[in-house]
Amino acid sequence: MAMSRLFVGLVAVCGWGLAHAQGAVQQIEAHQHLGVASCASGVCHGATQPFKDSNVWQNEYSVWSDSDPHARAYRTLLSTESKRIARNLGIPNAATASMCLDCHSDNVPAAQRGEKFLITDGVGCEGCHGGAQEWISSHTNRDVAHADNVSKGMYPTDEPVARAKLCLSCHMGTADRMITHRIMGAGHPRLAFELDTFTWLNPHYEIDEDYVSRKGEFNGARDWAIGQGIAAYNLLDVLTNDKTGSHGIFPELVLFDCHACHRVMSGKRWGPRPGTGLGPGVVRLNDANLVMFRHVLALVDPSAGDRLAGQIRGLHQATTQSRSGTNEAARTLMRSLDTSLQTVAAYNFSEAGLGKILASIQRDADRGEFRDFSAAEQAAMAAQSVVVAFDTAGKLDEAQANRLSGLVDRLYATVEREDDYQMANFTGAMRALTASAR
Ligand code: HEC
Ligand code: HEC
Ligand code: HEC
Ligand code: HEC
Repeated sequence: MAMSRLFVGLVAVCGWGLAHAQGAVQQIEAHQHLGVASCASGVCHGATQPFKDSNVWQNEYSVWSDSDPHARAYRTLLSTESKRIARNLGIPNAATASMCLDCHSDNVPAAQRGEKFLITDGVGCEGCHGGAQEWISSHTNRDVAHADNVSKGMYPTDEPVARAKLCLSCHMGTADRMITHRIMGAGHPRLAFELDTFTWLNPHYEIDEDYVSRKGEFNGARDWAIGQGIAAYNLLDVLTNDKTGSHGIFPELVLFDCHACHRVMSGKRWGPRPGTGLGPGVVRLNDANLVMFRHVLALVDPSAGDRLAGQIRGLHQATTQSRSGTNEAARTLMRSLDTSLQTVAAYNFSEAGLGKILASIQRDADRGEFRDFSAAEQAAMAAQSVVVAFDTAGKLDEAQANRLSGLVDRLYATVEREDDYQMANFTGAMRALTASAR
């Protein structure tokens, strides 16, 4: 299929090696940011209706300012909620603190801000598409290829590895843009992200014929899979980083499963999770993304998947022994992820194999692996992406599509309220879905 070849080509151009690649934040900040106003004119991206004979809608600014939450990200820092968070943290003003602006605006260094740049615009166009200094004038020419724009500093948001790194820099936090348990403790909402689901929540773009000819094919299952791999890598990267991995005598708690600590004491709800091999009363790393990536490999490269399962268990074990052992186990996993991500990126996610992913998740559910809310939440988002991928590939008739979408809704309902999560309900809903998708 053309898609996978195209994609492999792109990877070769961009260079691989997650550990050594320039980070998303550095790429975004490499050129001057001219400001949202530079994109917003009526003949550029500020139309009120989509243009008929243009490759892109050209009303992206209107969509963004009317309905995209990124447009209000800065304003959020002025809210009562943010004021309370700031007070709890002992900082004078959330709207001037880098600790908040890094994710709630396009917080490039002063030297990289053009005349029309406004920090109050929140997460503007260039916060995702990169500083436009070098490409603003040429990118409007239809004869200029997307790759030429990218070579001038446009960020490749179409490319799933790059997109995952970009979105997760704010939606999970990385060493560059860190969210800590102190910020959570002050009242910040817990962050949860899944690349495919979130890419389609407020789109100002669509995948049509000309999109595919310019940028290659989109595949939701592939994007889900890559998003899991990059998120798992980020967690380990933050964990093994001296600056971000610990706080005083404790490790950075944001990297752990919130419900390992935040649960009622009278619950007597403990039960074994074979995938960790941990006993009762132990704080568990949040391995939700690692576990999901293992389900990806169950389809793409089963023997690598089994190896990963052993390494995940090894990491959990190491956390009960020593800091240095933990770092070593984490680095082993990072190397495996690095290699496997290349296999996954080049894999042709045809509809036939997708049932295997659901079946793999199901096997875990039957073994009691979904005790942890965050893993169950990721599994629900995974199931949705997989079902949508079945549907987009034209593999489902209308009745099947409706039935499966009802079952996905039922699965979602079991993870809707974090504090009332019951594993048995989740497992039951997962079983119904897998049986129906077969
Ligand atoms: C510079 C940081 C930043 C980047 C990069 C970023 N986001 Fe966000 N995103 C935010 C913030 C902050 C919010 C919350 C805005 C608010 O309500 O104040 C948000 C909100 C969202 C929401 C709404 C979530 C909800 O619960 O309704 C979606 C969807 C989303 N982002 C998707 C993405 C995707 C997809 C990408 C990558 C293409 C991305 N974001 C990149 C910072 C970022
Ligand atoms: C690592 C990036 C990151 C950092 C740092 C960060 N935020 Fe956020 N924040 C987000 C994202 C992403 C969301 C949206 C979560 C979602 O809906 O999925 C969010 C949501 C919020 C919300 C809830 C918004 C709503 O619409 O309900 C508030 C309030 C908030 N942030 C305030 C702050 C404050 C104050 C700080 C600094 C102390 C801060 N944030 C630091 C990424 C970040
Ligand atoms: C949160 C990140 C984010 C922000 C903010 C953002 N975009 Fe995008 N944009 C994306 C993603 C993801 C895509 C889809 C992948 C792709 O084609 O690159 C996209 C695609 C596009 C496209 C290409 C559509 C196509 O068919 O090729 C245009 C044009 C665009 N955005 C313009 C804008 C403008 C103008 C703004 C500011 C008003 C903006 N974007 C803000 C993430 C973002
Ligand atoms: C190792 C145990 C541990 C883990 C893991 C943990 N926390 Fe906490 N959390 C605590 C402790 C201890 C406090 C402080 C309680 C206090 O101040 O009295 C706290 C406080 C909080 C508070 C403030 C509660 C309040 O009453 O104001 C929030 C919110 C919070 N944590 C969210 C989270 C989230 C979200 C996660 C997962 C990303 C998480 N925690 C993971 C131990 C943990």
